[in-house]
Amino acid sequence: MDIVREIGRLKRSRGAIILAHNYQLPEVQDIADYVGDSLGLSIQAAATDAKVIVFCGVTFMAETAKILSPGKTVLVPDPDAGCPMADMIDAEQLRALKRENPTAKVLCYVNTTAAVKAECDLCCTSANAVSMVKDVMKDDKDIIFVPDRHLADHVAQETGREFILWKGFCPTHARILPEDILRQKALHPEAVVMVHPECSRGVRALADKVLSTEAMCGFARETQAREMIVATEVGVLHKMRSANPDKVFYPATEKAVCPNMKLTTLEKVLVSLDEMRTEVVLDQETIYKAKQCIRRMLEYRA
Ligand code: 13P
Ligand code: SF4
Repeated sequence: MDIVREIGRLKRSRGAIILAHNYQLPEVQDIADYVGDSLGLSIQAAATDAKVIVFCGVTFMAETAKILSPGKTVLVPDPDAGCPMADMIDAEQLRALKRENPTAKVLCYVNTTAAVKAECDLCCTSANAVSMVKDVMKDDKDIIFVPDRHLADHVAQETGREFILWKGFCPTHARILPEDILRQKALHPEAVVMVHPECSRGVRALADKVLSTEAMCGFARETQAREMIVATEVGVLHKMRSANPDKVFYPATEKAVCPNMKLTTLEKVLVSLDEMRTEVVLDQETIYKAKQCIRRMLEYRA
């Protein structure tokens, strides 16, 4: 059986669209209708006419798609593909933090569960966190920012604001060390260094650009530079290399692999479409509450 052709046939018969994050396996990216970062995927999920969304990413991304398109069937090929950073704070922990800071506004990174989003005022991704704080939250005196302490630190450096923090982090980006960047820079002195804001301050300090995964892809396309060092999950290199065959991309370290992002395979996408599983199910109240903060983020962009 030609698995790619069979996925295409099933996709058409189900009226489905396949969305994939930039960290997915190359062969999964290649069968997707759209490949992008968390912000782009949210926009696609909100806009699509398809009845079924097969979401190749991690659970919080598929939940975001369900929140934005509650009338659609959202399927995840592997229900175990969670995000450890998103699981570092739960709704009760956030409620306790809110009780300690009753006047603070709550900004959550999109890497949070639907239940946590339901407790927040605003949502952001790595692509818009700085501008959201600068513009939308400029009059808010106190801001709770959950769960990524590194993204919060990056936004604090860019905006001069201080946040009430949660000490979450991404275990995959934590594997990228300053010495990895220094080693690659020594090997490729002409290369431009792109770093994801989930990296530590020491790594970000060595960056020429701190960017979301999709902004990295855009920069790679537009820059005159021929060589780039990429400090994020290695999956993004597939898209960069396919789109820019005349440029050279070096991962900061081959160790930056998100095991959860790699759980989705072509075989699982096929089974997902064939058996219509595993469906993302959220209760109406969570959808209603979580939608408010995501909508504010998408309206801001518009
Ligand atoms: P982006 O939104 O930049 O793609 O990042 C998502 C993510 O999970 C990074 O680890
Ligand atoms: Fe979560 Fe990190 Fe994987 Fe992104 S790379 S999905 S933040 S664990």
